[in-house]
Amino acid sequence: MTCVQCTSRVVLDKDEGVIEIFDEGFAADPWPVLAELRDDGGVHRVRTPDGPGAWLVTRYHDVRAGLLDTRLTTDIRRAAGKDYRGFGVPPAFEALQAVDADDHARLRGFVAAEMSARRLAEWDDLAPSLIQDHVGRIPPGPLDVVADVALPLPAAVLGELLGLPASVRAALLSWAESTLAPDAAPRARDTLAAMHAVVTATVEGARGADTVLGRLVEHRRTGLLTADELSGLLFYLLFVWYEVLVDLLAGSVLTLLAHVGPRRTSRSGPGSATVDELLRLLSPQVLAGPRFARVDLDIGGHVVRTGETVLLCLAAANHDPAVFDEPDAMRQARNPNPHLGLGHGAVSCLGNALVHKVTAAFLAAWFGRFPATALTADPAEIRWRSGFRHRGPLTVPVKAA
Ligand code: HEM
Repeated sequence: MTCVQCTSRVVLDKDEGVIEIFDEGFAADPWPVLAELRDDGGVHRVRTPDGPGAWLVTRYHDVRAGLLDTRLTTDIRRAAGKDYRGFGVPPAFEALQAVDADDHARLRGFVAAEMSARRLAEWDDLAPSLIQDHVGRIPPGPLDVVADVALPLPAAVLGELLGLPASVRAALLSWAESTLAPDAAPRARDTLAAMHAVVTATVEGARGADTVLGRLVEHRRTGLLTADELSGLLFYLLFVWYEVLVDLLAGSVLTLLAHVGPRRTSRSGPGSATVDELLRLLSPQVLAGPRFARVDLDIGGHVVRTGETVLLCLAAANHDPAVFDEPDAMRQARNPNPHLGLGHGAVSCLGNALVHKVTAAFLAAWFGRFPATALTADPAEIRWRSGFRHRGPLTVPVKAA
């Protein structure tokens, strides 16, 4: 059945007043549906792919306000009723999910200290040279930017920056290949076992080392972190951002080839403003992590009851014409660009500066080495990962030249 107010792809279950929008078509092209939902009141009950419902918030000002609203919490213990609760994070890794606001802020402090301006300055030279090496080893010719370039890059580059021993980097890469490749169909149990093994090996390999991970492990030894807190942080730092960084890197090459062209991109030297525009336009993280209402509250004229789940749609906010002129167009010099692609407020992305650094260095290295790269598939034919919280192309076939 089609929604009466909206068109085509939005399916409305009249009995429950719930709409269904999350399918493979949504991942590839979420913009028309999100525009309909923004225009049609902005806040809707949706069914998530696993079944349970949630509130979906789509207008920029509501999403931004929601990210700052302390009546909404990421603490999963506040979830009540039948609503969507997020990915089932195994108990050993849920330190950042099952925690109150004060402890959440304390745990974030350990990571924030490692992402300080001083520390990032140390990486200023290192990151581009690691990325140059990575791209420099890629032979010209036909290849897939996802599998051959973007997928191995985080293990190689961020593994080095964070201080992962070589053997653990290899294990992380093998986890990524088995779960993120287009034809991957991992069994959850195997994936979990692989993640446990990588976290354990990271703790062993990082002990005593003067690296980001070594210092986190040291906080466990001195009692500043419990064993579960350390596993939860490592789980986040090793696995949670991996997929979305691959999505951003591969999606960026695809977008620049399709919208700007390789020669113009290589001449303009993509910098931080380009990365912001790509984060806005692509919105690789479509939804912020689920928020749970601590009390009854009003969002956009709808009463959200205590314990219900709110999904703040970063992608819809990033394409809201009330804030961004021509929101579906790529404008490298867009200014101001107050996008929410890396979240906002108390749970925003602690990797923000690193994401900008790594992505800009990667695009400069890629288009510097291959200024005549050509897409070998029609962008409209490219399939996208159908996960509803993240989006990225499954393959980006090119001739690197
Ligand atoms: C360099 C790699 C990255 C690291 C180390 C990193 C780290 C983090 C951390 C520690 C948090 C905070 C989680 C919390 O407090 O519960 C976070 C949040 C977030 N990250 Fe990243 N991240 C990285 C890459 C990315 C990328 C590539 C994207 C998107 C393109 C992204 C989008 C986000 C968003 C949207 C949030 C906020 C989630 C929310 O509001 O629920 N991150 N990140």
